[in-house]
Amino acid sequence: MKRKQIMIVFGTRPEAIKLAPVIWHSRNLNIDLCLVWSGQHYDYELSRVFFEELKLPDPDYNLEVGSGTHGQQTARIIERLEKVVLEENPAVIVAQGDTNTVLGTALVAAKCKIPFAHVEAGLRSYDRTMPEEINRIVADAVAELCFAPTERAALNLLYEGIFPWKIFITGNTIVDVVLKYREKAVKAAEKLLTELALKEYCLATVHRAENTDNPTRLENIFKALNTIADQIPVVFPIHPRTRNKAEKYSILKLLKKENIYLTKPLGYFKFLGLLAKTKIVLTDSGGVQEEALTLKTPCITLRYNTERPETVEAGGNILAGTEVNEIIQCFKHTIKHIKEIKEKLEKKPNPLRDGKAGQKLT
Ligand code: UD1
Ligand code: UDP
Repeated sequence: MKRKQIMIVFGTRPEAIKLAPVIWHSRNLNIDLCLVWSGQHYDYELSRVFFEELKLPDPDYNLEVGSGTHGQQTARIIERLEKVVLEENPAVIVAQGDTNTVLGTALVAAKCKIPFAHVEAGLRSYDRTMPEEINRIVADAVAELCFAPTERAALNLLYEGIFPWKIFITGNTIVDVVLKYREKAVKAAEKLLTELALKEYCLATVHRAENTDNPTRLENIFKALNTIADQIPVVFPIHPRTRNKAEKYSILKLLKKENIYLTKPLGYFKFLGLLAKTKIVLTDSGGVQEEALTLKTPCITLRYNTERPETVEAGGNILAGTEVNEIIQCFKHTIKHIKEIKEKLEKKPNPLRDGKAGQKLT
């Protein structure tokens, strides 16, 4: 039976970005790769654009699982991926992060008795109401190889009884991508900023279920962004989940004001460049917290916890929660202390490491 060495399964925006270094290095080493895109994300702005910008080869398979409930999405991944795995019989299956794509992949690998390698293993928010937390725990529990980005992530795994010989501390692959593309990204953002006639601004992203699926929280966040926009323009590339929910709750109109630049999700270069040049980023994204730290951009996280506490300990990130006043207070504090925050970040090494994670884990 034919046997590809490594099967990489991915299917959402952050997975395309964070697995890019693994794909680049595997190709440099002439490793026989089989790429499977689950199709959890399917809009051009959430999928294809990253293949083009990050020069990823076309996937060998697209499972086209699309959107649905957690059960539907995960079940489709399991059913469709199992067929591909039985056909390809890879030596190892790799997935990254905490999406339903990862959950389905981990279960298929375990059931087909093929070693599962989990990139970004060991992150924990200790909040089991988050779908991502359940996905991480399951993926790590069945993984044969846990690639932990930091020491803390490795400790989380040890506390859960994962054998030490399965754990490898690699750093976070996002650092590889940020360092590789920072300059190009800044140029792309400068072009966009000229078009928009913008100099100083804040950047915002929101998409987590705990915020978008709770009308009060989403409204609070929008109100806070509105208040911030009285002081400084806010660029807000809106995730389709957030747009859909905001339309459903009839609150999208809250963002219709001159100083709020509501855009479609942006390609990686434009977004990363905006993140490098923004005064502050307000976000509930995991990847954006990490990129902000790497770029030394002050971050306000619109959540009550983070599975990336290293970003907070480094002094670059504040957990603001989702109350209007708290967010505004955090914004005022950060604006006031921006110089000290940046200086502090400049002095310390990045806890997410040096940009060689892709090389280490291949
Ligand atoms: C998923 C992950 C989340 C991750 C995020 C990255 C899970 C449980 N959640 O959330 O951890 O942070 O991806 O962005 O896996 N939609 C579109 N076009 C698309 C994809 C989605 O319009 O290409 C809309 C659909 O209305 C869909 C909704 O977004 O129902 C949510 O998509 P889904 O894949 O379920 O989760 P995300 O919110 O994207
Ligand atoms: N991102 C992007 N365009 C955008 C918003 C985000 O390219 O308009 C990138 C961002 O740079 C980061 C990743 O998407 O690398 C984060 O994805 P997301 O916030 O959707 O998911 P999470 O990291 O929370 O799982």
